[in-house]
Amino acid sequence: MTDHVTRLLSQDELRTANTLFRGTLHVAPATDEEWARSTESYQPDRTLGVFDTELIGTARSFDSDLTVPGGARVPLSAVTGVGVRADRTRRGVLTELMRTQLEGFADRGVVAANLYASEGLIYGRFGYGVATLWRRCVVDRRRAVVRAGAPSGGEVELLDLETAKTRLPEIHDGLDDDRPGAMRRSEYWWPGLYRQLNRAEAPVKTVLHHGADGIDGYVVYHTSRPNPADPAVLRVEEFHARTPDAYARMWRFLLSVDLIDTIEVSEMALDDPLELLFTDPRAVKVTGVEDETWLRLVDVPAALAARERGDAEVVLEVADPILPRNSGRYLVSKDAVTRTDAPAQLSMGVDVLAMIYLGTWRPSALASVGRIDVADSGVAERADLLFGTRVAAWCGTFF
Ligand SMILES: CC(C)(COP(=O)(O)OP(=O)(O)OC[C@H]1O[C@@H](n2cnc3c(N)ncnc32)[C@H](O)[C@@H]1OP(=O)(O)O)[C@@H](O)C(=O)NCCC(=O)NCCS
Repeated sequence: MTDHVTRLLSQDELRTANTLFRGTLHVAPATDEEWARSTESYQPDRTLGVFDTELIGTARSFDSDLTVPGGARVPLSAVTGVGVRADRTRRGVLTELMRTQLEGFADRGVVAANLYASEGLIYGRFGYGVATLWRRCVVDRRRAVVRAGAPSGGEVELLDLETAKTRLPEIHDGLDDDRPGAMRRSEYWWPGLYRQLNRAEAPVKTVLHHGADGIDGYVVYHTSRPNPADPAVLRVEEFHARTPDAYARMWRFLLSVDLIDTIEVSEMALDDPLELLFTDPRAVKVTGVEDETWLRLVDVPAALAARERGDAEVVLEVADPILPRNSGRYLVSKDAVTRTDAPAQLSMGVDVLAMIYLGTWRPSALASVGRIDVADSGVAERADLLFGTRVAAWCGTFF
C-alpha cells in the first residue's frame, strides 16, 4: 500500500475508531453514554489505525494469557475491533493492519494471539487457524431429569447482576481454569460482558455454587419470552464449574427455575458432559457446532516448548511468510523443542500448526485433506500422539 499511514492511535482518536468499527458491522455510532462505557474496553496503546486522508481501518487488542495443554500459560494478545471502511475494502488495508499488529506482538514478546472471526475466509492468510470449537444446545426442561447418583454436594446462592459485578472477576480468576484454550479475563474484558448483559430484556441473575472449599462455580442467565405464545427460554450466558458437584448442582438449579420451557446454552465446550447428566440424553438437542477462537502462534518455538507433548518425536517444518523468524525445522519431542537441519517429516503453514496446537484437530486429519505434507503415514500417527490432549480445548471468553 502506498500513501497510507499506519500507526497506534492516541486516546482522543479512539472514538473515531469505534465509530468506524461499528459502521463496518452496520451498527450506529455509540451515543455519549455508550461511548463512556465502551472506553473501559480500550487498553491504552493497543489500537491501530490506517489513514489515507482520514481513518479508514482499525484493529485493537488487549493483553491476556492463554492456557496451553499441560496447564502452562503464555502471553496472549486478544485481537478485536477489526474493521475497514466499506469504500476502502479489498485494497490491502486489513493486510497492513495484521502485519503491523503481528510485528508489534512479536516485538513485545507475545507468544500467541487469538480472535473470534466474523467470517471464515478472513484470517487464515494471516496465520490464524481454528483452534477451539464450541457447541450450542437447547435443553427441554421438562424432559431433563438428573440421573440418580449424579453428584449433589454444595449449595447455591442467587445474586442480582449489580451485586455479582463486584465479585465475578475475582470468582472467575479463582476457578483457575486449566483447560487448553482458556484465557485470563483482563480488566478490559469485563466491561464488554456487562454491556451485553445490560441489553437483556429480563433481569440478569447469577448463581454461585459454594462447595467444600469455597466458591467453585457460577452461572449467569436471564430469561426471555418474546410473545405469550412462544416458549419461555432461560438463556445461559456464562457457565463455569470447577468441580463435578458445582456442575450437577447448578444444572439442578437451572432445571428448577419456574415458568421456563427450554434452556439455551450457546457457548459450551465440545466435551461438556451435559447429555450424560440426564436420564434421557435426548433432553439435550445440539443446535450447532462452530469455530470458536482462531489462534495465531507469534513465537513458534516458545509456544511449542510451553505445551505438554506426548511420547513421540518428529521433525516439523513450519512456513510463516509474515513472521519469517518462525519459519524453519524443529525437532519436537516429549522432552525438548530444538531447531534442526534434519529433513522435514511434516510440513505445514503456521495457521495449520495453530489448528493442532491446542489439540482440537489431529495432524493425521489435516494430512488426509492435504493441509500437512507428511513423509510417510507413520509420521502422522506419531504427530497425533505428540499433540494429542485429554481435554477438549475451549476458550469460553467471548470478545
Ligand atoms: C474483513 C475486512 C476487515 C477485510 O478488510 P480489507 O481491507 O478488505 O482486507 P484486505 O484488502 O487486506 O484483504 C486481504 C485478502 O483477504 C481477502 N478478504 C478480505 N476480507 C474477506 C472476506 N470477508 N471474505 C473473503 N475474503 C476476504 C481479500 O479478498 C484479499 O484477498 P487477496 O489478497 O487474494 O486479494 C473488511 O471487509 C471489513 O471491515 N468487514 C466488515 C467487518 C468485519 O467483518 N470485521 C472483522 C471482524 S472479526
